[in-house]
Formats: sequence, C-alpha cells, structure tokens
Amino acid sequence: MTARIIEGLPVAERIRAEVTAEVAQLRAEHGLQPGLAVVLVGDDPASQAYVKSKGEQSLAAGMHSVTHRLPADTRQDELIRLVADLNADPLIHGILVQLPLPSHLDEKPVISAIDPDKDVDGLHVVNAGRLTVGEPALTACTPVGCMVLIRDTLGDVAGKHAVVVGRSRLVGKPIAQLLLAADCTVTMAHSKTQDLAAVCRSADILVAAVGRPRMIRGDWIKPGATVIDVGINRVPFDNPEQAALGKTKLVGDVHYKEALEVAGAITPVPKGVGPMTVAMLLQNTVTAAKRIAGVD
Ligand code: GUN
Repeated sequence: MTARIIEGLPVAERIRAEVTAEVAQLRAEHGLQPGLAVVLVGDDPASQAYVKSKGEQSLAAGMHSVTHRLPADTRQDELIRLVADLNADPLIHGILVQLPLPSHLDEKPVISAIDPDKDVDGLHVVNAGRLTVGEPALTACTPVGCMVLIRDTLGDVAGKHAVVVGRSRLVGKPIAQLLLAADCTVTMAHSKTQDLAAVCRSADILVAAVGRPRMIRGDWIKPGATVIDVGINRVPFDNPEQAALGKTKLVGDVHYKEALEVAGAITPVPKGVGPMTVAMLLQNTVTAAKRIAGVD
C-alpha cells in the first residue's frame, strides 16, 4: 500500500482565503489594515525567492506590505536600527527578518531587538517562553503549518508518539512544544541521538527538520506512520546526464520513494509543508495586528 500524500497547497490556499476575508473585514469594520515588514540582507537566491513570495502573498491578502532589501555588507547596528524603526512604525504589525543572515551578522541580538508583539516568526525569547508555558504566543510559521497538516490528517493526536528530528529554534523546538501541547508523547532527536533509526521507527508521527537530503530511509519508518518532511534540500538530478548539465532538484530530509511504501501519510517536497509557511505568516500578521489594536 502506498501512503496518502498530504498536499500543502490546497490547505494553504484555504487559509489564505480565510485571511483575505478577515483582512477585508478588519479594514471595513475597524479601519485596521494588518501590515507586514520583511527584511532581507544579502542576495541568497533561495531567501530572495521566499521573500518575494511573502511580499506578493501579503499584498494579495489585502495587507500593507513592505520589503526592505539591504546589501550583503550591512552592519549589525544598521540592521538593528531598521528593526527599531519598524517596531515604532504604527502601520507595521509583523516584522520578519529572513534567516540565515550573512555570516558577519549575529542573528540573536537582531531577533532580540524585534518587539515580541510584532515577532510573527515566533523567534523572540518572550514568544518561545510563552509557547513553552502555554500562554498565547506568536509561534513560528512552519511549525504551526505542520500542526495544521497533522490535525487535518489524524484529527486528535492525544497519546500518540511524536518524534521530532532536529532541534532548531525555528522548527524543531517549537514543533515539539506544539505536539506536546496537543498531548502527544514527544521525543526530540538530533545529530547526537543514538540509534536514530530505531527512535524514528517508534514514531506514530515523524517530523523531519534536519536539512540533510533523504537522510530518513524507508526502514526507519513505522508502517502506517504520519511523516512530515520539513526539509528543503537542493541536490543534483539522479539522472547522471542531467546532473552533468548542473541540473538540480528539491528533495526533503526523508527518502520519499522509500517512505511512500511504508508510511500511512506523507508530505511531499516540494508542495507539502512549504506552502503552509507563508499562509501561517499571513495569519500570524493578522493575529499580531488584532492584538496590537485591541480588536477581538
Ligand atoms: N528562513 C527559512 N524559513 C524562514 C522563516 O520561516 N523565517 C525566517 N525569518 N527565515 C526563514
């Protein structure tokens, strides 16, 4: 039996339509137009593509949207000054500094400089803390998107064993907290975990967020498990002739072909988790705008 494929695109479209309707209502009834500022430093092609999509989709949802493209040699104090200006800007309710930053910049002080109430990435320690203690928090977009897909697939997940592979600030840690809040039994696995294959094989829900192409093999997966692949890795084509031409394609952290034969349901790469991220960013921006404006 092959796994059910969890398509992110239709779910993301549904959420974008809901956000668009809510933005129209906020504008009509409260004169409130949610505003998003996206900051990109440097010219990394993948980041440029993500930032373009964030700008386009926020505009399409009827939001106020600004994108700040800064040169790769921007200084730390210049970036922090821009963040401070955005914190003070009443038209902006959400601030996202695209990561990774160029290597001469330190991301921690930049994230700390963002007003937690405008931190639509959920990266600030205040939001990470709120999530951990169960207070209303702005939560990282990709993990929230994963949870929407997991709930769409499984419904109630209470008591299920979830294994999260990867412990990043942006994905692994927040998704583990969200799964815990949904009453899963959660294991966080990472590069130092012993017998990672056996740990993965014990998962009813397996979330892969490590950034290593096709690391998780078919025989690491419990038959019938739900597999959420957050990885986006660019690799040469399998076909040697195409690979020789320098052609590349996107693959996840899970060996998709093998996993398809074992899992109960699985997100593809691309078009699985990916489209959910921007949809949840739009939703977080609406949430932030409502909180800042005191609208229910
Ligand atoms: N880089 C890749 N994904 C993300 C994201 O969700 N937010 C930010 N700020 N940077 C990213």
